[in-house]
Amino acid sequence: MDQQNNTLEPHVLMFPIPFQGPVNCFLKLAELLCLSGIHVTFLNTEHIHRPLLRHTQVLSRFSRYPNFKFETIPDGVEHETPVPRDRFMEVMAGVDAVTKPLFREMMVSGRFSWKSERPVTVMIPDAYFSFAVDVAIEASIPVICFETISPCCLWTSYLNLPTLIEAGDVPFEGSDLDQLITSVPGTKYIIRKRDLFSSFRTYDGSNSDIDLIAKEARTILVAQGLILNTFEELDNVVLPHMRKLCPNIYTIGPLHSLHKTKLMANKNPPRQETTYSNSVWKEDKNCMLWLDKHDPKTVIYVSIGSLATMTVEQLLEIWYGVVNSGKPFLWVRRPGSITGGYDESRVPIELLERTKEIGCIVEWAPQEDVLAHRAIGGFLTHSGWNSTMESIVEGVPMVCWPHHADQQMNSRFVGKVWKIGVDMKDTCDRLLVEKAVRNIMDSKHNAITQSTNTWASLAKESITEIGSSSIHLGRLIDDILAMTMSSTLM
Ligand code: UDX
Repeated sequence: MDQQNNTLEPHVLMFPIPFQGPVNCFLKLAELLCLSGIHVTFLNTEHIHRPLLRHTQVLSRFSRYPNFKFETIPDGVEHETPVPRDRFMEVMAGVDAVTKPLFREMMVSGRFSWKSERPVTVMIPDAYFSFAVDVAIEASIPVICFETISPCCLWTSYLNLPTLIEAGDVPFEGSDLDQLITSVPGTKYIIRKRDLFSSFRTYDGSNSDIDLIAKEARTILVAQGLILNTFEELDNVVLPHMRKLCPNIYTIGPLHSLHKTKLMANKNPPRQETTYSNSVWKEDKNCMLWLDKHDPKTVIYVSIGSLATMTVEQLLEIWYGVVNSGKPFLWVRRPGSITGGYDESRVPIELLERTKEIGCIVEWAPQEDVLAHRAIGGFLTHSGWNSTMESIVEGVPMVCWPHHADQQMNSRFVGKVWKIGVDMKDTCDRLLVEKAVRNIMDSKHNAITQSTNTWASLAKESITEIGSSSIHLGRLIDDILAMTMSSTLM
């Protein structure tokens, strides 16, 4: 604090939920804020901070910013490796029991409070952390939520949950998952029951997942702003409607591309590196050499992200489908992603032989680089929002096999709204997989190729200096400064 005129320096506290996707997004935004001179404290729970330090250079990368600081907070989670989706609630229970009270103490009377040397002037938590927003309000700290799931899911399944319940669309009655949902403004004739947030399928009027969604939606509405990883054109079906409820939305996506562009443009300090990994698993870079040996747009990339899992039966169906398509493939098999464990003795020998000829399997890949590689011609994905954005900007068509959460809605928008892929939702059959892979990769001039090219161009335009995402980032920075000024002590 400047004692002479009682002004505060802008100091943002960023607090992601402890999973790969959100931590990755938050770190990218943190670096962009650092470049603008804002002080950033990045608060990770211990569970996710350990593998992040183990597998990345984040400490040395961020050491070039004197205005950046990592802090950790206990979460009571013992695991040394990140957990899959079915243990999501276990981690969140730890956060609730251990992190929540400690965080409140930190903000209200401890090291980030008004009594501290550099008080936090703006808080940017994940919207899931409603307790962080409550504490910000209690401590009179302006708060802007960062929502790392897709806007199409946020709008349809979160912000419209009361609408869906009132219209009788949720809870589901009967099992006709193909029934259209017409109650949500902007998405009439687009979405079906099967596209809503995955937990809705098991909702009978009481379900803790749904209570959390309702809570998160309410949290978003009380914050001063909402940051989304999208660009204006991509989500123009839902953004105008969302702005009626949350007027102050910052669309700053594709965030990883905006981040890369701004860092490359920044000469002080100059950069040597071309990738900025925030992976909580060890990346196997050998797959890039394998890709180098292939012709442009010939390889299908297969990955189900950081949380999803598949059974051995599903693994074999997808594996057969990919192999039978005849396309060379790069497949990420994250440790722990096969339910019940991977047992090679259950894999037919013909599949293993063919894989040796045309496949490359790794435990974790540098995905942004993979999708940007000229050899990649398609992506068989679980439709996580980060993967979707990373694919869109590189113009890579997708075969979507959504697993949970927003992925059902993302894959619907990929297939039906943006027309940049095939939605295989709820099916996992080798013939369908083979057909879908051929469909997105074989014809060079089909409608999917045209759409992927169009959306890739629009994504790239949005991150130019005069593009919408750059403008929104500039506005976010200006607003942080303005919020800090208005927090100045009297
Ligand atoms: C979770 C949710 O399940 C998802 O629906 C939500 O939108 C975000 O959080 P996750 O499984 O983490 O998704 O998928 P995704 O959002 O696609 O993020 C995965 C990240 O891991 C991507 O940034 C991707 O580049 C990275 N990744 C993935 C790698 O770096 N290497 C890999 O081998 C695989």
